[in-house]
Amino acid sequence: MNILILGGGGREHALAWAVLQNPKCDRLIVAPGNAGIAQIADCATLDIESGPAVVEFAGENAIDFVIVGPEAPLAAGVADDLRDAGFLVFGPSKAAARLESSKAFTKEICDASGAPTAGWARFTDAASGKAHVEASGAPIVIKADGLAAGKGVVIATSVSEAFFAIDDMFGGAFGDAGAEVVIEEFMEGEEASFFILCDGEVALPIGTAQDHKRVGEGDTGPNTGGMGAYSPAPILTEAVAERALNEIIRPTLAEMARLGTPYQGVLYAGLMIENGAPRLVEYNVRFGDPECQVLMMRLGGQAFDLIHAAAEGRLAEARVNWASDHAITVVMAADGYPGAYEKGSVIKGLEDAPEDSRRFTFHAGTAERDGRFVAAGGRVLNVTARGDTLAEARDSAYETIDSIDWPEGFYRRDIGWRALGGGET
Ligand code: AMP
Ligand code: GLY
Repeated sequence: MNILILGGGGREHALAWAVLQNPKCDRLIVAPGNAGIAQIADCATLDIESGPAVVEFAGENAIDFVIVGPEAPLAAGVADDLRDAGFLVFGPSKAAARLESSKAFTKEICDASGAPTAGWARFTDAASGKAHVEASGAPIVIKADGLAAGKGVVIATSVSEAFFAIDDMFGGAFGDAGAEVVIEEFMEGEEASFFILCDGEVALPIGTAQDHKRVGEGDTGPNTGGMGAYSPAPILTEAVAERALNEIIRPTLAEMARLGTPYQGVLYAGLMIENGAPRLVEYNVRFGDPECQVLMMRLGGQAFDLIHAAAEGRLAEARVNWASDHAITVVMAADGYPGAYEKGSVIKGLEDAPEDSRRFTFHAGTAERDGRFVAAGGRVLNVTARGDTLAEARDSAYETIDSIDWPEGFYRRDIGWRALGGGET
């Protein structure tokens, strides 16, 4: 098959790496890709948020199957345009992608299907939002309804902080995404991510992960897109996963089908788990980044068969071949991230970094200049490894990091600490 992956980060590098291990793949194009992806696949320049542009490109290149990586093309309806033009696609329709593009929509689905989640209310003006905060007290969670690149959520520890967030959102800090604001009850517990392939009807779990959102060691400092992740997530035991499937995921899929917008693609459920009971924090309609890197490292080439089965509506007959292994990914970021950072610093040692079926350095934001890799983003590399234990995977990943020579970059030395027994690094 000729396969097109849309996206150009570490997630798409990991997807490309897994797809290429599957003999069904004849040709792989990634658009736009990055300098690391270009080492293993063809990269193409393309406006991936334009349905007509992607349809034309897929036609010209005799593409048989399109895998959509990020949420923006899904929210823009690129999967719909491709399907209308007769292409096989992995990823939900624009209507089903509302599970990520509108927080209020997801809350309505939870209410309609009885899925446990934080209590909530929606507001279109600041005064009524503030009245609600005053009546509820703090801590309380203030969210811009729409897509805000992971920045539209404020956990307010005081009423005045909540007021500030409400004014900020209605004041246009997130553009149209903040035209409506969702205010939620603050949930206690431990967070974990659950990844489920869906074909419109059937839900097939393909793994669990936990990520580290804070920039600093000990989970301190500002929020980022994720500084590392590991799989499996110990807190998401089989019993918790079964409850999440029965109480949250399957009811969601049934409600989406009932609404006439069946969900096909990967559903990434952010769960808050307290005393063995999962509640939904949020859905994403794509793989997590960098969570995808640890999932692909563990699944290998079968990931493609599963993704393909989801796109063709064949998940009822699909099976995951589970290994009792662990994977970890450590993000190397440019100095200054998540604030302002420089681009263009040279990264050395990548050519000699060990790469096999148990460890691989996925590129999140690199470019090629004069035959050398240079940093081209905030999160730049995802050093990923697999092991029989999490400690073995962790040691393997940090061994690779030690062979990479990039003085202008930094990383956290404690990825996985919680699962490794708290504090141990
Ligand atoms: P979201 O973009 O909805 O995932 O929110 C970003 C982060 O905010 C989540 O990963 C949680 O850590 C936190 N969060 C969101 N909603 C809540 C909530 N209702 N209670 C506690 N923490 C939350
Ligand atoms: N790592 C968090 C996300 O992909 O949303």
